[in-house]
Amino acid sequence: MSERSTLQIRDVSKAFDLGGGKTLLAVQEISFEVEQNSICVLLGPSGCGKSTVLRMMAGLETPSEGDIMIGGRKVEGPGQDRGMVFQAYTSFDWMSVRKNVEFGMRINGAPAAERAERAERFIDLVGLSKFADVYPSQLSGGMRQRVAIARTLANDPEVLLMDEPFGALDAETRWLMQELMVDVAEQTNTTMVIVTHDLEEAIFLADKIVFLSSHPGRLKEEIKPAFKNGKRIADKEKVVKMDGYGDLEAHLMRLMREEGRGRE
Ligand SMILES: Nc1ncnc2c1ncn2[C@@H]1O[C@H](COP(=O)(O)OP(=O)(O)OP(=O)(O)O)[C@@H](O)[C@H]1O
Ligand SMILES: [Mg+2]
Repeated sequence: MSERSTLQIRDVSKAFDLGGGKTLLAVQEISFEVEQNSICVLLGPSGCGKSTVLRMMAGLETPSEGDIMIGGRKVEGPGQDRGMVFQAYTSFDWMSVRKNVEFGMRINGAPAAERAERAERFIDLVGLSKFADVYPSQLSGGMRQRVAIARTLANDPEVLLMDEPFGALDAETRWLMQELMVDVAEQTNTTMVIVTHDLEEAIFLADKIVFLSSHPGRLKEEIKPAFKNGKRIADKEKVVKMDGYGDLEAHLMRLMREEGRGRE
């Protein structure tokens, strides 16, 4: 396994205890790596185990078999080296945007001046400078999700884990958020693992797509969108028009359909 790799998933299986002696094998013998500073997208049909894999990376679930390693250390629970953004908005409504973004740093004991400076930087990065002193309830869904992203990034995680972070947003806001994430990845060098079942989102964001098959979730295919030539392009229209985009989308659709049928 490569030295530079930040996150390694090694022969991971997860069985859930359903009670009454029954277990459900959600994830079976999955291995892959998420390279440092890369964007990895976990894709696959509903119920294939994407959230379970992400939650194990976060340390919120424990693998039944195998190990998850981050920077060579075994993941044994949640930690500051990983930050998680959920689908539902998780900002604190009684605190201003600025206080929300400072919250984690306060818990971690960062000095006030550093907190203020970092909060400013990340609020600016997600384009909310004008709204730093308003409350989340006064913001749109997309803006609230940007607060959650800024708050998570302000804690300086090595890895940002996101579970369908834009699932609740309308299409146009979603595109803007996707473009924002490419920008954030470029500017902060944060490694990202993003769960989605949106093919377009996967192709646009991913340096690598990890496609999981369903029931139990196994690694079906690892795909690097070759048409991007290893570059990130923070402009949706440009990407969808590139040679190779359509072919990759068709390929992923085929995989989705195969797996969807397998479930019935
Ligand atoms: N806490 C749990 N207890 C028992 N079974 C669980 C638990 N969490 C997940 N599962 C099961 O594990 C399988 C994978 O679930 P998971 O939520 O990881 O899928 P997913 O790929 O994220 O799906 P979706 O796209 O719908 O969010 C499902 O069959 C689900 O019922
Ligand atoms: Mg899920």
